[in-house]
Amino acid sequence: MNLILLGPPGAGKGTQAKRLIDAYGIPQISTGDMLREAVKNQTQLGLEAKKYMDAGQLVPDEVVIGLVKERLAQPDCAKGFMLDGFPRTVAQAEELDKVLAEMGKAIDHVISIEVPNEELIGRLTGRRTCRNCGAGYHVIFDPPKEEGKCDKCGGELYQRDDDNEATVANRLKVYESQTKPLIDYYQAKGLLRPIDGVGSIDDIFARIKAVLG
Ligand code: AP5
Ligand code: MG
Repeated sequence: MNLILLGPPGAGKGTQAKRLIDAYGIPQISTGDMLREAVKNQTQLGLEAKKYMDAGQLVPDEVVIGLVKERLAQPDCAKGFMLDGFPRTVAQAEELDKVLAEMGKAIDHVISIEVPNEELIGRLTGRRTCRNCGAGYHVIFDPPKEEGKCDKCGGELYQRDDDNEATVANRLKVYESQTKPLIDYYQAKGLLRPIDGVGSIDDIFARIKAVLG
């Protein structure tokens, strides 16, 4: 099964992706995570990408398309994959269609997680992530058992550089203007599966599973 998780910043793409990995046995391909890894390793690509990420802007299409193309060719994507945070522009979506066609593959479902802006801001500013294993938490909605410490591996929890109010506001604007048009793009292809993203993390996971079967 080949999936796209679409939705605004804070919609729960990463949170649901982590559960889908176990439920469906397919890897999560998060361009945001890949870019943050490059930033952490201070690669040329990472240093370039950081400027855009800290400003809440999108990294240029060619850069992310290159990353995804390479990742999709890995053997663990043979049985399926889940794209999280990609595509983010119509140009990226068109390029993805081409790349998949060349590989003899296609997208089966676009899970579009819908959450109103007021809720997104609270989710993002309270998010915490494990530096070691990448597990996600929220200080109020999904707190760890011990403050600042990952339940799964004991790693240190940190706040993403782009989760401050000013950058969040920019990311939401960029989503409206550059990413939201993908809803019509995938609707026209008959692939869009809208999911109400308000409710508990478990409820939303159940809604997604009901759609995927
Ligand atoms: P990226 O990392 O993709 O960030 P994003 O799209 O802004 O999405 P988030 O990761 O912030 O949100 P999410 O939907 O995963 O929410 P989560 O599950 O964590 O991109 C970052 C940057 O990288 C971009 O700004 C851009 O610069 C660059 N980039 C990445 N991809 C790119 C591309 N394709 N092209 C160009 N540039 C690109 O949940 C958020 C919080 O809410 C968590 O704390 C969680 O615990 C909590 N939560 C989740 N579900 C619920 C719920 N149901 N109720 C209450 N709380 C919940
Ligand atoms: Mg995410």
